[in-house]
Amino acid sequence: MDIRTVGVVGAGLMGSGIVETAARCGYNVIMREVNEQLLDRGKQRMATSMQRAIDRGKMTEEDRNVAEARISATTQLSGLSGADLIIEAITENLDAKKALFAELDRIAKPDAIIVSNTSSVSITALAAATDRPSQVAGLHFFNPVPVMKLVEIVRALQSSDETIDTLRRLSDTLNKTVVVAKDTPGFIVNRLIVPQLLDAVRLVEDGVASPEDIDTAMTLGMSHPMGPLTLLDFVGLDTTLFIADVMWEEFKEEKFAAPPLLRKMVTAGYYGRKSGRGFYEYNKK
Ligand code: CAA
Repeated sequence: MDIRTVGVVGAGLMGSGIVETAARCGYNVIMREVNEQLLDRGKQRMATSMQRAIDRGKMTEEDRNVAEARISATTQLSGLSGADLIIEAITENLDAKKALFAELDRIAKPDAIIVSNTSSVSITALAAATDRPSQVAGLHFFNPVPVMKLVEIVRALQSSDETIDTLRRLSDTLNKTVVVAKDTPGFIVNRLIVPQLLDAVRLVEDGVASPEDIDTAMTLGMSHPMGPLTLLDFVGLDTTLFIADVMWEEFKEEKFAAPPLLRKMVTAGYYGRKSGRGFYEYNKK
């Protein structure tokens, strides 16, 4: 299948990064959000990211203008009916995603592929919500999408080889390296990194060290680009808690049990960068 037009549902942190990346790599992209305000926020995020790329010498102003011209925006799901591939990047909620997949199945072209950028919900369950289960898979990007080189392709029980091959070719054109994982909570990256992030919160909880010192230890001692608590703020404490809870439900292993401090911080609305406060404070613009 030849993909020319990509639809993206959700223009949050991940959705807008996917829209930007696809447009920069030559695809026509239709971006869908539930209202104009969220669409504008997504466009603003992309503008900032592309300006950063220009400032770092990674793209020209002309390339930016060409990329922006490839992007259209809609608040209607039916606006995605012309897409060859639809990427779902809404909030991590299985019921909301299942309802969305059923709706996308009704409006999408018969041969269109529908994928989810989820970090943890069952792709097999999403495929089962449609009448095209062999054309459903996971396509999991990493934040910031234009910068991070990896994409995890997740095979639902029902995904066809043709669907996986098409997604491999697409990922190549997006300059991403592909790893393929079975449909299990957390796939590869989160299955390995989430227990480490939870352990970092346990260190804070136990008073072993300050967030700053834990992060310094892992950046300077292990050459990680970000320490675990900075990374938690970057990914979102709410998102990480959700992923941890899904993995706990599935595996019932202690390493996936969320520490009470993480749960309390999420209850308090300390989601990290996006809410202005997590383990650190951020200037809200
Ligand atoms: N477009 C293209 N390139 C860009 C760019 C953009 N918008 N913004 C930055 N870059 C490039 C820069 O040019 C630079 O490239 P070079 O190294 O070739 O010069 C590189 O990206 C790094 O950029 P900066 O120097 O501006 O920024 P930095 O050094 O402070 O790095 C970071 C920022 C890339 C975010 C780095 O801190 C990092 O890698 N952090 C870890 C991120 C991470 O772990 N992400 C995964 C989170 S988990 C997830 O997303 C999935 C999940 O399921 C929860």
